[in-house]
Amino acid sequence: MNNSQITHWCHEIIKSQAPKGGFYIDATMGKGNDTAFFCELAGETGEVLAFDVQIKAIEATAALLIEKGLVDCATLIMDGHEKMKKYAQPETADVICFNFGYLPGGDHNISTKAQTSIMAIEQGLEILKKGGMMSLCIYSGGDTGFEERDAILEYLKNLPPKQYVVIKNEYFNRGNNPPMPVFVFKN
Ligand SMILES: C[S@@+](CC[C@H](N)C(=O)[O-])C[C@H]1O[C@@H](n2cnc3c(N)ncnc32)[C@H](O)[C@@H]1O
Repeated sequence: MNNSQITHWCHEIIKSQAPKGGFYIDATMGKGNDTAFFCELAGETGEVLAFDVQIKAIEATAALLIEKGLVDCATLIMDGHEKMKKYAQPETADVICFNFGYLPGGDHNISTKAQTSIMAIEQGLEILKKGGMMSLCIYSGGDTGFEERDAILEYLKNLPPKQYVVIKNEYFNRGNNPPMPVFVFKN
């Protein structure tokens, strides 16, 4: 396991905070690594919802879940995460995870965007239980640019501190706009 990978760190933090057998939402399914991680955490009694806007992601995730023997553990939804409220009730989710950007090896134009990402975070915070957490892997630079990162950070910075704890992390000695893991805890 490569301990310097952002996804590894996010999974470790989630595991240290989240109950097993809970309700988890993967807001950006991609190749399904976070969905599979949530399925393992959910076990037999939990529930997982996963969103993506492209069929390639749904197919890749379904294939990964079959390969890992995690069939039928998640509901894979082909829709934008900005419509998350259609699929989940307020104050029900233990963890919501975002891994922004584009599908690795896929079309870079089908990428998360500042406006819809903020809408999704806003809805996700309503859907989170009190005591629940949100994990956000934020990318910037290259094709992605900085607009989405800056908009997300500005939004999170202004969340009321009595209701939310926001922890922003950084790779301190790495160049080329490294990804940024951020965690939001709902009080
Ligand atoms: C970096 S990938 C996610 C990686 C993934 N979590 C994994 O484990 O492989 C980002 C994904 O977000 C998806 N995406 C883009 N806009 C979206 C939207 N509005 N709602 C949901 N997913 C979106 C892309 O199609 C892409 O598959």
